[in-house]
Amino acid sequence: MKQIHELIDIGAKELKDISRRPKLEAEILLSHALGCERIDLHRRYYESVETDAFLRALSLRKNHIPIEYITEQVSFYSETFAIRPGVLIPRPETELLIDHTAQLIEEHALSHIVEIGTGSGIIAIMLAKRFPHLSVTAVDISPKAIELAKENAQSQGVADRIEFKETSLLDNVEGTFDLLVSNPPYIANNFPLDATVCHEPANALFGGEQGDELIRSIIDLCLERRIPWLTIEMGYDQKAPLESYLTERGVSAFTFYSDLAGLDRGFTANMSTVG
Ligand SMILES: C[S@@+](CC[C@H](N)C(=O)[O-])C[C@H]1O[C@@H](n2cnc3c(N)ncnc32)[C@H](O)[C@@H]1O
Repeated sequence: MKQIHELIDIGAKELKDISRRPKLEAEILLSHALGCERIDLHRRYYESVETDAFLRALSLRKNHIPIEYITEQVSFYSETFAIRPGVLIPRPETELLIDHTAQLIEEHALSHIVEIGTGSGIIAIMLAKRFPHLSVTAVDISPKAIELAKENAQSQGVADRIEFKETSLLDNVEGTFDLLVSNPPYIANNFPLDATVCHEPANALFGGEQGDELIRSIIDLCLERRIPWLTIEMGYDQKAPLESYLTERGVSAFTFYSDLAGLDRGFTANMSTVG
């Protein structure tokens, strides 16, 4: 048994070399281990508690397991979603992809959308929550992702408005869509990842030799299936090659957007402008 403040100090010290926010992570792990809110730790500062669950969680984190995989929770767009190993942990910049997509849905009164690579389901779910009239199809190649996305859709109350399908790209997906949204894997195969990111699934991260191969396939697919709008998240160094590719494929109306760090992060395109 140890007092809560002692465990926070132990955790912060143990994590100082692997985390940029060691004390915060120690508190998150301790509140998870004790099954309480973080704020309660401060109220119970001098209380003695069992240490086993906390020390186990701490040891996983010291081995670079992402904290979200240990707590099996992730905050995204002010909501809490379930997350598990084998499924990509949502990143804050993906909120921007949702905002750009939502803007198009609103401006053009779009009603049928499809998402490729839904992962934990956050994009499809947030859009379905925002637009009650929207019909959403969401696909992923990973069975683990589809299972988790269905669970998240259920707990967010939109399971009846999202059709989830395990498939690659739009293989065996029938129907017509007004918009395709995707945050596909876009990292180049040989890019060195940091030790924590290495625990995330490779098929959610790597997009090919250059990194943007899957994005190019999605552009082609959008044209082939005559889907008029496309919104994509991409790597910070992919604007020039993708701008050339869109132009080469005859798309003339597209806009790139940056993330909060000022890095190029994605684009929206009107695919019906092809001559
Ligand atoms: C970068 S993750 C995005 C997950 C989630 N949409 C998000 O934004 O957090 C990419 C997802 O694409 C899926 N994926 C990879 N190749 C795919 C393919 N050919 N067809 C469908 N999904 C694919 C991966 O399994 C992964 O879940």
